[in-house]
Amino acid sequence: MSTPTIQRLNPFLPEVMPDPYKFYRYYREHDPVHWGVSSNPNLPGTWYIFRYQDVMKVLESPKFGREASKIRNDGEGAPVPKAYRGFSSMVSNWMVFRDPPTHTRLRTIVNKVFSPKMVENVRPAIIGITDCLLDRVHFQGEMDLVDDFAFPLPVMVIADMLGVDPKDRPLFRKWALALQNASASRLKPSPEIYEQAEAATQGFIDYFKKEIAKRHLEPGKDLITALVKARDEGNKLNDEEVLATCIHLLTAGHETTINLITKGVLALLRQPKALKLLRSHPELMPAAVEELIRYDGPVQMISRWAYEDIEIGDKLIRRGDSIGLMLGSANRDEERFENPDELNFHRPETKHCGFGSGIHFCLGSFLARAEASIALNTLLNRLPDLRLKNDSIDWANNIVFHGPKHLQVAFRSPR
Ligand code: HEM
Repeated sequence: MSTPTIQRLNPFLPEVMPDPYKFYRYYREHDPVHWGVSSNPNLPGTWYIFRYQDVMKVLESPKFGREASKIRNDGEGAPVPKAYRGFSSMVSNWMVFRDPPTHTRLRTIVNKVFSPKMVENVRPAIIGITDCLLDRVHFQGEMDLVDDFAFPLPVMVIADMLGVDPKDRPLFRKWALALQNASASRLKPSPEIYEQAEAATQGFIDYFKKEIAKRHLEPGKDLITALVKARDEGNKLNDEEVLATCIHLLTAGHETTINLITKGVLALLRQPKALKLLRSHPELMPAAVEELIRYDGPVQMISRWAYEDIEIGDKLIRRGDSIGLMLGSANRDEERFENPDELNFHRPETKHCGFGSGIHFCLGSFLARAEASIALNTLLNRLPDLRLKNDSIDWANNIVFHGPKHLQVAFRSPR
């Protein structure tokens, strides 16, 4: 394998996507707190942090946070340029972009719905959707794992929890990808990309306004009803926050799980020994899902702002600097995990940071784990000779939500 020669890393470049791990390895060893190229053209650079211990230090410290307005009053560096008002004000109401006390208020309202107990109640629905998706393709002998399975499964589950029509998923996907393109995926997004995100925001807002109006006439047992109640009874949320939270949960509820299922299958099909072990020991599935998140997680990078001058490694990070925490690298840190490039379902050390850590630790982690276990279990049981149709993969150009655009697989049809 050739050693990367890049001096200032730009993790948003397409050549990083097929194997980001070789870049991570190099920087972990040579420059673990690295001043690289920023995804935001208004910023001189971003600190990319590669080692597990340093990533955890940032995630667990209140000296770092998510609100650009605390360190910049010109709006520069905000996740979205102020010119795109609808999009920018909508995402500024997402809990993931807020610090306490707003973060605590927004998260407390939905926390209960995503508890392990509540997720147990959703399990039968996940199993039903999974079987139904496989029934549709079973006789074809092949499918695009992304379009036919890994995308519809989590989006149908979260749509069901919110109480919206899962049949509207093509719209959700189009809008979610437009938001993702503008906020997370590329270097220097063009005005066209922001215009698409603005239109997608409006699409989502109009959609959820109608749903909210319906809940007034006929309250349900769904998440939208719970949010509307929190607004009307407890005054805990305002109108914009109700809308933004619906959009946040719908998008966060599927963008990541798609890649957990797709990259999970890819890793297993590329490593027949691990696949065989899992087929013969299905009781290893929970450990396998955890290990797959560590080994090649759906979220490779998350961001923070420094609120104070602080030393990390041997570098002085200044108040106002932007920080990229390379979760994918931290999870392959040889100082934390023995033989980190090995897929090992019997790992003694399992505490990875694929779901983040600290106050923003993934709200949907129990749901994601349940969806992935059921999905992988069903695929392995129902498609005993599942295989890749080819090994050349078209990766989405996105280091935050990292995964293939499509994955063609074949299997023996029961016909
Ligand atoms: C936060 C990963 C599935 C909802 C996060 C964060 C990570 C993450 C790394 C932390 C972001 C940060 O600190 O900046 C994942 C992965 C998933 C997954 C790898 C699938 C394998 C889900 C699902 C939902 C969800 C199914 C369902 C609604 C959220 C929300 C937050 C979050 C709302 C923000 C929490 C907060 O700010 O307090 N997720 N996620 N995620 N996740 Fe997930």
